[in-house]
Amino acid sequence: MSSHKIVVGNWKMNKDYHQAIELVKHLTNLISERKPLNTTIVLSPNFLYIKDAIELVKDFECIKIGAQNCSHKSSGAYTGEVSAEMLSSMGVEFCIVGHSERREYFAETDSMILEKIILLLQNKIKPIYCCGEKLEERENDTFCSVIENQLNNSVLNLNANQIVNVVIAYEPVWAIGTGKTASAKQAGEMHQFIYECLIKKYGAETAEQVSILYGGSCNPKNAQELFSTKHINGGLIGGASLIAEDFYSILNS
Ligand code: PGA
Repeated sequence: MSSHKIVVGNWKMNKDYHQAIELVKHLTNLISERKPLNTTIVLSPNFLYIKDAIELVKDFECIKIGAQNCSHKSSGAYTGEVSAEMLSSMGVEFCIVGHSERREYFAETDSMILEKIILLLQNKIKPIYCCGEKLEERENDTFCSVIENQLNNSVLNLNANQIVNVVIAYEPVWAIGTGKTASAKQAGEMHQFIYECLIKKYGAETAEQVSILYGGSCNPKNAQELFSTKHINGGLIGGASLIAEDFYSILNS
């Protein structure tokens, strides 16, 4: 089996309830009218809207609902947290973990991220694991070792049966929400590098089953070139996923 095409919409902390429902409806209308090619679409609204979003997409085999985060604890006295088990009981199939915004603003460490991944896998939810270097790390040429460390401290601790259920998203921090996309060449090199890290640990047959997504200012104009690059198996889309027509156009790229 080879890696699967996946496009994820990460809505972050945007849209009120009514706007979010409208967005799901607009997208499902576009998809039923025009049909995207064989791609899994993951919509990730905030926790509050998940139940309604799941109901609205239930007749669309290609659309799954994802969460943007989960707790690194399994259950108990952790006020305000949402567990992987809770998400699973709602029908959530994917969950973003280790996004750079969570690492930066909520002090998430690699070891917390690994704990989340393990809990998600135990609850049959596919983690969408984010890694990526900061601008200074790109400029001082340490970006490959930064990514290798992030992978070594998290997903590369999993066994082969676990890693095939993980989606990796390469998101250079300098490209997120900045309008500054990595070129297809820069992104392609990093995807190749991540793929080689997977091969080193698990062998080619397993590595090929792991989808590696690109994220960071991906839009309808640059998606086609990025997605036709070797080892780029889709995208993790922030800003452009908030506009139905733009997101649909990225899906078709
Ligand atoms: P962006 O965000 O597409 O708005 O750059 C991507 C992300 O943070 O996942």
